[in-house]
Amino acid sequence: MEKTVSIILDGRALSERLRSQISDEIRHYLSKGLRPPTLAVVLVGDDPASQVYVGNKERACQKVGIRSLVYRLPYNTTHEELLELIAQLNADEETDGILVQLPLPPHIKQQEVIIAISPKKDVDGFHPENMGRLVARMEDGFIPCTPLGIDLLLKHYGIEVKGKDVVIVGAGFIVGRPLSLLMLWRDATVSVCHIHTKDISQYTKRADILISATGVPGLIKPSMVKEGSVVVDVGISRVGDRIVGDVDFEGVKEKTYAITPVPGGVGPMTVTALLMNALKAYKIRMGLT
Ligand code: GUN
Repeated sequence: MEKTVSIILDGRALSERLRSQISDEIRHYLSKGLRPPTLAVVLVGDDPASQVYVGNKERACQKVGIRSLVYRLPYNTTHEELLELIAQLNADEETDGILVQLPLPPHIKQQEVIIAISPKKDVDGFHPENMGRLVARMEDGFIPCTPLGIDLLLKHYGIEVKGKDVVIVGAGFIVGRPLSLLMLWRDATVSVCHIHTKDISQYTKRADILISATGVPGLIKPSMVKEGSVVVDVGISRVGDRIVGDVDFEGVKEKTYAITPVPGGVGPMTVTALLMNALKAYKIRMGLT
């Protein structure tokens, strides 16, 4: 019997489509004489991965017509100096969205910084008020970018989440935890595995949809995956000169119905979701909704 080939969930292609729609919408507002949407991005220190991510976000904004102002601050910026900048950006009439790239240097209290950002400008969706809206299933909040990007990707490929066993590996603040809330919102039965889980394969083997967000290359092996399932790989790790995910892609794709590649899967969708959140913040501020 011939084996059917796994569908590749192409985040790059979907991003291109969505970004072109965002760009059209912004062009429409500009043609009416409105100012462009504006996103402030704050990067503290010189973490190489963060520099790459911020550069990607900056270019993506430019391409769709979002004005991005990147504040590159030195590693030794104090907690108070960062809070002062956030207060200025909160008060600035023309700043629609504020994103502080994580992780922050250890001398800065991350949670206090996140709480200092105005929830209306919190395009990362990390403020407790927006996390609360996610719990409460309120459409007017901001959903964190990677979970939102995954949701859009699954929807686009017609992958039903309702009633499915969704297993998330990784319970981090940026992806795993908010994603578990979003999948619950979509009426999935959600399990979240983390560093203290006794035997993750006991969970992953039952998953209709398996989402891995650990940053451990090759963690998810073919033996851990159910035949005919959907696998979403959030991992981005550098191994030698290659970018790889958490999933043993070549082996695992033989068993899946659909799978995301790395790169070109979740990564571009995260940036696209940020553009959508920035546009949403702008529209709310400008009374366009
Ligand atoms: N670091 C890694 N991912 C993210 C993200 O989505 N937002 C921010 N602010 N920092 C990150």
